[in-house]
Amino acid sequence: MKKVILATIAFSALMVSCGPKSTAVTGPKYKSSEQLAQGKTIFENSCNKCHGLPNPEKHDDQGWINTLSRMAPRAKLNDDQHQMVYDYLISINKK
Ligand code: HEC
Repeated sequence: MKKVILATIAFSALMVSCGPKSTAVTGPKYKSSEQLAQGKTIFENSCNKCHGLPNPEKHDDQGWINTLSRMAPRAKLNDDQHQMVYDYLISINKK
């Protein structure tokens, strides 16, 4: 299973310009306040290394799937961390 996921990530990295279909995170998963708090911590610690911390309202739910599929590998997040950051961002991106 792990190999399949890694292959999917490697494949989607090659195919970014063709579409966001095969990424590890494709929608919401975590809902508990602990997991969302963990996502917030990971976001605040990992996403300000190369640029300022982005505004969660910059993207809608679909937009964050696309952007995080490019940024999570840059921030060296594993699939679970990637998922928690995603769930955190979409929990607060509503205006
Ligand atoms: C290793 C460096 C690096 C890390 C770590 C990183 N980014 Fe980025 N990020 C970039 C670069 C370079 C760009 C501009 C080029 C691009 O858009 O791909 C960018 C652009 C962005 C943008 C603007 C483009 C868009 O799609 O809106 C957002 C938002 C963003 N990053 C979010 C994040 C988040 C969230 C994280 C944490 C998971 C993160 N980044 C971690 C390097 C990084």
